Amino acid sequence: MREQTANSVSVQLIDIVKSFQAGYNANDHVNFSAYPGEIHALIGENGAGKSTLMNILYGMYQADSGKILINGKEAKFRSPADAIKLGVGMVHQHFMLVNTFSVLENIILGDEDTFRFDVIDMKRSKQKVIELKKSFEINVELDDISGGLAVGIQQKIEILKLLYRNAEIMILDEPTAILTPQETEELFKTLAELKNSGKTIILITHKLGEVLAISDRVTVLRRGKVTGILKTNQTSSNELAKMITGRSIESQVIKKSAGGEKIILEVNDLYINNDRGSLAINGISLIIKEGEIFGIAGVEGNGQEELAEAICGLRKISKGTINIAGIDDFKKSIAHIPANRHKYGIVKEFTLEENLILGREKEENFSNGWILNNKKINEFSEVIIEEYDIRPENSKALMEGLSGGNQQKAVAAREMTKNSDLVVISHPTRGLDILASEFVHRTILEESKKGKAILLISSDLSELLKLSDKIAVMYNGRITGELDPKSTNENEIGEYMTGLKSNKR
Ligand SMILES: Nc1ncnc2c1ncn2[C@@H]1O[C@H](COP(=O)(O)OP(=O)(O)OP(=O)(O)O)[C@@H](O)[C@H]1O
Ligand SMILES: [Mg+2]
Repeated sequence: MREQTANSVSVQLIDIVKSFQAGYNANDHVNFSAYPGEIHALIGENGAGKSTLMNILYGMYQADSGKILINGKEAKFRSPADAIKLGVGMVHQHFMLVNTFSVLENIILGDEDTFRFDVIDMKRSKQKVIELKKSFEINVELDDISGGLAVGIQQKIEILKLLYRNAEIMILDEPTAILTPQETEELFKTLAELKNSGKTIILITHKLGEVLAISDRVTVLRRGKVTGILKTNQTSSNELAKMITGRSIESQVIKKSAGGEKIILEVNDLYINNDRGSLAINGISLIIKEGEIFGIAGVEGNGQEELAEAICGLRKISKGTINIAGIDDFKKSIAHIPANRHKYGIVKEFTLEENLILGREKEENFSNGWILNNKKINEFSEVIIEEYDIRPENSKALMEGLSGGNQQKAVAAREMTKNSDLVVISHPTRGLDILASEFVHRTILEESKKGKAILLISSDLSELLKLSDKIAVMYNGRITGELDPKSTNENEIGEYMTGLKSNKR
């Protein structure tokens, strides 16, 4: 951090109040500041108000009261366009690229500029992007079409977009939640470059290791209020965890021993084409027995999602078989926590309780086959909301108003409480805070103890090591390694993930 004087402060949020529902302030008299040349971590539980606060700084939302000062001067933002003009940019939890555009087009064209395409000097613009790429060591191919690019690359495009608009204050909302360890490392290098060039970086994250590794200062929010502002080198993950949750964190979950003998899922010599017609799955076989947690590690995009979707009947297979015990019995459907929750997991225009029974409407608990039993549905959701600590505690709240982490909890709750023999889970704790992650881990273990077979896809290796009975590593559409969690480690798994090692044909 550079020398900090009152006039070098780049961002000051003073006494910000924002409420979406009467009686609860999502931001409750929040003060926040950040300096040029600083990486400032903003942390707190799901629903604590982090995204709301940053959306106010970015002009997406207007505060009910309070002030924004940029470089010491009061600013009034009516929209993100106003914020961008004063050098404030934000990369959201969910990216907003135009799929059909090339990378270069996405960087150069802001939504509001689209109609001025023909008057933009493409050559000069491209030169500027090339220089930005170079000075911040951001590697992307400018001519690629954006749709279908790996999330790590899409994120780089979003960052270049901000730099192209001369952002000096850059907000990143959970940028690493969807990245692999390697992509995270690259992102952090870029952030360090940006910091050294004097930019103000505000980083929202749930990963305390990252906070300690990369930030200069930390602001902690809990239920809309600031509970701490700390220098990173003077704190610890324990202290931060306490400030986030208001109490000390319980110990780790203990792994149970493996399950029974009955085979629940058998995949045999499976081949699947991806959306572009090339092989996504290239001859995979695996067996999962009752009570077993079968972990799949891998860099995202190596076939994991295609495998999950095929097992859940969402994707056509080219060759091979998938057998699921008892699947002809309609009650024993498959539970699925998808990676792309916005596509398959939730309907954001529906209420929380509607989302909690989505796909389960026919269950006898919720309907008599003709009409929904609203009382039962409401009772069920009240219990689930309490048990999974979903906030707000209001079953009629619209899903789109829930924070990212709380939407995730709702999908997990619906699927984990489903009466199924097989649960297919992708990245169950992505975007969840520490307590919620612990809770989901405990739930996965409990459900497996009841005899459910669980396919657990995750890029969080510590999560896989903690929960799995077996770990398979996928690389290039194949299983290249089968490892015993008791006798392997993150490093070794990493070598299989990047194709350096293989213990299969
Ligand atoms: N557009 C909205 N409409 C209604 N309520 C909202 C809206 N946006 C946020 N909220 C509410 O404001 C509170 C804070 O949400 P916010 O998204 O800021 O949390 P967060 O700290 O970013 O959480 P997460 O870690 O889960 O992303 C929550 O109670 C949320 O339900
Ligand atoms: Mg958020």
